[in-house]
Amino acid sequence: MAIEQKIQELLEKRIEAKKGGGEKRIESQHAKGKLTARERIDLLLDEGSFEEFDMFVTHRSTDFGLEKQQYLGDGVVTGHGTIDGRVVYVFSQDFTVFGGSLSETFAAKICKVMDQAMKVGAPLIGINDSGGARIQEGVKSLAGYAEIFQRNIMASGVIPQISAIFGPCAGGAVYSPALTDFVLMSEQSSYMFVTGPKVTKTVTGEDITTEDLGGAWVHGTKSGVSHFVVTNEEEGILLIRKLLSYLPQNNLEDPPLVECNDPINRIEDGLNQIIPDNANKPYDVTDIIHAIVDEGEFLEIHRNYAKNIVVGFAKFNGMPVGIVANQPNFLAGVLDIDASRKAARFVRFCDAFNIPIVTLVDVPGFLPGSGQEYGGIIIHGAKLLFAYGEATVPKVTITLRKSYGGAHDVMGSKQLRGDINYAWPSAEIAVMGPAGAIEVLEGRKILEIKDPEERAAFIAEREAEYRDKFANPYEAARFGYIDDVIEPRNTRFRVIRALQALATKKDVNPPKKHSNIPL
Ligand code: HXC
Repeated sequence: MAIEQKIQELLEKRIEAKKGGGEKRIESQHAKGKLTARERIDLLLDEGSFEEFDMFVTHRSTDFGLEKQQYLGDGVVTGHGTIDGRVVYVFSQDFTVFGGSLSETFAAKICKVMDQAMKVGAPLIGINDSGGARIQEGVKSLAGYAEIFQRNIMASGVIPQISAIFGPCAGGAVYSPALTDFVLMSEQSSYMFVTGPKVTKTVTGEDITTEDLGGAWVHGTKSGVSHFVVTNEEEGILLIRKLLSYLPQNNLEDPPLVECNDPINRIEDGLNQIIPDNANKPYDVTDIIHAIVDEGEFLEIHRNYAKNIVVGFAKFNGMPVGIVANQPNFLAGVLDIDASRKAARFVRFCDAFNIPIVTLVDVPGFLPGSGQEYGGIIIHGAKLLFAYGEATVPKVTITLRKSYGGAHDVMGSKQLRGDINYAWPSAEIAVMGPAGAIEVLEGRKILEIKDPEERAAFIAEREAEYRDKFANPYEAARFGYIDDVIEPRNTRFRVIRALQALATKKDVNPPKKHSNIPL
């Protein structure tokens, strides 16, 4: 065959591979409001940067007449490209080929890009849209999943791993995204569950729709499995690009520094008034975050899950940081099981990838009650405590208002190796709030006073005395637990100065195989 013919053959094969499962199935994918595997990659990567691997791979199955159904690429598009000029590895499941179901060769293609992403130290992005294990391949398909899981585990804490769910993701297949750092799901068109509605009905009698069992909002609000819910795939893909702009390529690199055009000494007078005079009045902590970070830009993670704590990425003087903040606007910013789990995972991610942590504290304590105790708030609260104490990245903590009891210790306190701990003059750092303290300390006396007015006056007087003594930042500052009490309007500058000073921080944990975090 002449070389021209050979080249023609190559081009024809490429055209065939790019058709995936064929025009009809592509149309059906579009009719569902979904993009194809290749369209997703094109949107995700810098234009023209995609280098594809294994376009000519086909499955080796001969059962159920499968030998007659061959599609070049076998249902998953894999390779590497760049995002904002930085290398990433990617796989994108192609629903038009056997419903994106996973065969032995399909799994091998994914494992190849995972292995190479690890070798070069580049992030891995997986786009999931699959009917699960390829039924005709049986146990080989299960083995393929396990090969991927094992690689997800080895890559955890080494390279960032991001999963987009843009279609079905069911059965054991959910565990690969679950092992990655960030999961995002598209509204209406995606779902994740270990067991689908039909089997659920048979086994438990529960009648539930796919959307109610494992839709994007379920995982974005109730289970916390999904970090982001997006209205469509385009939004999701842009979000992945944005997310990566805060992350290093791997655990041996620092996050990317960018030029900062926002003055570092920008004074925000409004912050001096933002804390209400009444300690029980809420405010929105995201207003404070937006006021102090570069250009007011904050990428919130888990925005709709455990809203009593806010976590996400921002920049100070061009340097990415992870922000953890109690949210007085929701459940008074109390720490409960979900908030503890959410923040603990975030703190550990930041620590694994050399991202400094800035903590804004306004926490009345842990949520009381049998629901929390039976659910294991002890274990889950300990996760957050553990995560802060274990983290060796720079840690800057600002106490805005309340910082009471165990929750005070947990939220990036000095004794959990907080590097620089500041407080606003409105801070109240104590074992518990004035009302609780007086009830414990003066309970008997309060009962003895029969006249209600006299009793109220007594309580008010004792609470005021307690507040003067303990509900302020100076008692903690007196012992050096707080490094300085700062004017709220100067917070941006003080945080940037702190981060600059800590930029060369080195801290190590003792050698061990791994820690035994209370899971
Ligand atoms: C082989 C599959 C497939 C699968 C879908 N297809 N799932 N082929 N193995 N698992 C094929 C269909 O035969 C069809 O082929 C095409 O993909 C599109 O499927 P439709 O059913 O027409 O699409 P839709 O109506 O959108 O429904 C999508 C679906 C449904 C909900 C995902 O296909 C489905 O329920 N599939 C089976 C899911 C499942 O039970 N998987 C195994 C789970 S166990 P044609 O030729 O008509 O286009 C598992 C274990 C993993 O995954 C364990 C890991 C540890």
